[in-house]
Amino acid sequence: MPQHLAIIMDGNGRWAKNRGLPRSAGHREGAKAVKRVISSCLDFNIPILTIFAFSTENWKRPKNEITYLLKLFERVLSKEKANLIKNNIKINFIGRLNDLPNSLTEKMKELHESTKKNNKLILNIAINYGGRAEIIDALKSITLKIVEKKLNIEEINEDTIRDNLYTHNLPDPDLLIRTAGEMRISNFMIWQIAYSELWVTPVLWPDFDKTNFIEAIRSFQKRVRKYGGKM
Ligand code: FPP
Repeated sequence: MPQHLAIIMDGNGRWAKNRGLPRSAGHREGAKAVKRVISSCLDFNIPILTIFAFSTENWKRPKNEITYLLKLFERVLSKEKANLIKNNIKINFIGRLNDLPNSLTEKMKELHESTKKNNKLILNIAINYGGRAEIIDALKSITLKIVEKKLNIEEINEDTIRDNLYTHNLPDPDLLIRTAGEMRISNFMIWQIAYSELWVTPVLWPDFDKTNFIEAIRSFQKRVRKYGGKM
């Protein structure tokens, strides 16, 4: 079983367009697929799930879509709070969280606080997240440690970078799933996925179900991981 599963949830817009519905309907249905995938992780004892909810590039979308998405996050977090607690799920948020609306960050802080002792599943929600922004932020904190003489330049190694990323205390994803067929990484966890197995499906995110989930896990289980070495 992968110990850390990461997902680029793509295709909400196309799902809605195919049905002649507004993009918001695709996002709403996408939230249901998030619930399904969380439940699959619980069923299969996958301890860490990271989902890409909103990228630093998503601010380029039409204003009404951005407003809808941020409100949807807020609504879903409130509505699902009790359920997340009941299922022993710990919620972390990764990204430039300070640039989000106050009402949303309040909800995020509250949810993080009230779930921080849970240990069945760690759910990382990447929001206002960009892999390059994450590396820039890591560089800034490393530089600060050097300036404050808490770190020597010669000591910088892979662990130094890892320890300063938003995901600092977590293992790298074993498997990265992308829905809606696009063969790209889109600035998602670019440091952490260096050796992750990739699985891309044409299925649009709102349609992603347990059968697709199992298909991805089966494919992962057939892979021989070499990490640059020979097996
Ligand atoms: C990609 O589809 C999806 C997003 C940018 C937003 C992800 C949000 C959700 C799945 C809703 C609920 C999430 C949480 C965490 C409660 P797209 O709009 O890029 O689709 P397209 O490429 O077909 O246009």
